[in-house]
Amino acid sequence: MKERLNLPADAAQARMQTEYTEGVRQILSAQYPDAAPKAFVHTYGCQGNVADSERIKGMLSAFGYDFTDSPEDADFVLFNTCAIRAHAEDRVFGNVGALKPLKEKRRHMIVALCGCMMQQAHVSEKIKQSYPFVNLVFGTFALQKFPALLYRALSTGRRVFEVGEPDAPEIPEGLPVLRDSAFKAWLPIMYGCNNFCTYCVVPYVRGRERSRSPEAVLAEAREIAASGAKEITLLGQNVNSYGKGSADGVDFPELLRRINGIPGDFRIRFMTSHPKDCTKELLDVMASCEKVARHLHLPVQSGNDRVLRAMNRRYTREQYLELVRYARKVMPDISLTTDIIVGFPGETYGEFLDTLSLIREVRYSSLFNFIFSPRKGTRAAQLEDPVPHEEKAKWLAELLRAQDEIARERSQAMVGKVYRVLVENEAKEKNGLLTGRTDGNVNIDFPGPVSLIGERADVRVTKALNWILTGELTDGQTI
Ligand code: 5AD
Ligand code: SF4
Repeated sequence: MKERLNLPADAAQARMQTEYTEGVRQILSAQYPDAAPKAFVHTYGCQGNVADSERIKGMLSAFGYDFTDSPEDADFVLFNTCAIRAHAEDRVFGNVGALKPLKEKRRHMIVALCGCMMQQAHVSEKIKQSYPFVNLVFGTFALQKFPALLYRALSTGRRVFEVGEPDAPEIPEGLPVLRDSAFKAWLPIMYGCNNFCTYCVVPYVRGRERSRSPEAVLAEAREIAASGAKEITLLGQNVNSYGKGSADGVDFPELLRRINGIPGDFRIRFMTSHPKDCTKELLDVMASCEKVARHLHLPVQSGNDRVLRAMNRRYTREQYLELVRYARKVMPDISLTTDIIVGFPGETYGEFLDTLSLIREVRYSSLFNFIFSPRKGTRAAQLEDPVPHEEKAKWLAELLRAQDEIARERSQAMVGKVYRVLVENEAKEKNGLLTGRTDGNVNIDFPGPVSLIGERADVRVTKALNWILTGELTDGQTI
């Protein structure tokens, strides 16, 4: 049996964090005697990174930083980076390069980089050699060391790099959290991934799967519920393997049941589920837990068995479809979303058509589509990849057209019905509307007072334009 690795009660870790936090505070209050220094934090990539950044901001706040939305007036700039596709990496390099002139004007400014990209040796080496104005670089295993690392950078004035892979990575427990939203909370339940899908860099940059203890997760969930949050999203690269092999026997379905039992007016979401570990038991538990949202993000990646094998996904198209049928049997109103990779090395147009037919069969509420991006160190990056990018882009466009059609029909079917939404913000178009999200993760725009943001409301859909839905509050039913 594997020992769980979380260390909420690890006195040594806690003491080190407190001491270095105090050390950083002292340096900063001497350096900025009149007003609090300002920090700018930008997060790339997935919700896992967003959750890490909320802990980093918690630490920055404990050091005495205020926050700013612009690097221009920041005394500390941090980019939390993503390595999933080349596009994400290119943006980071571009934005780091753009800091150079700013750093020349503001020489005291600390520039820090962390996250998945930094965990790759070739990236941290490039930063070391070609970006000398970067002061601090730390990888995904060093979150809890941030106070010590910043202390070292500030007290020595030297560049600090902490990017190695430890033998037994600690789970960062006991860190302060500064949440971005008062009503939607991210809750990491596990870190890392053991699956080694052949295209994916995550297992290399996030290390092996480590589950937080049920006690740590439940304590954080209780704290979030008590704060009045309306939604908790459980996070992990592969939440279905939560607690695998642990002595206490709390697996993901059991964890869901326990969180569902916490009193409070909140919904539970989770991501991401790997289809190979998504069991009927999990779907039954979802169906029986009234707080669990009727939404399942179940990345399929491809609808073709040969491609799925080449991706090392370890399920077949038919096994995936069987899960979808079962999910709909036990939760007829469930909304499904997925991730798809177009143009995996060696994929033929005929094989791509199997993906197209799969999305027509499943009729997802929405898709996240990506053109294959070779990642250094992964097996797929070694494969022959004869199909040119322009051709893959055409396949992607075909997929998007098919999904648009499905989304249009799904949206039309919602017209006239009333949905309970969580009101999240003002609509992006700034047209005086609010945006609410249904249980099934579909957005509806409607007129209403901004005081509703963060609350639930019942909204009748009045119009569907492609995938954009508009509606109106139903009389007296807002809560
Ligand atoms: N190329 C393209 N897409 C990728 N993804 C992961 N790695 C790659 C890659 N190398 C996609 C998968 C995954 C999502 C988070 O990103 O679809 O589910
Ligand atoms: Fe990457 Fe596969 Fe792990 Fe997801 S399950 S993080 S795609 S290796």
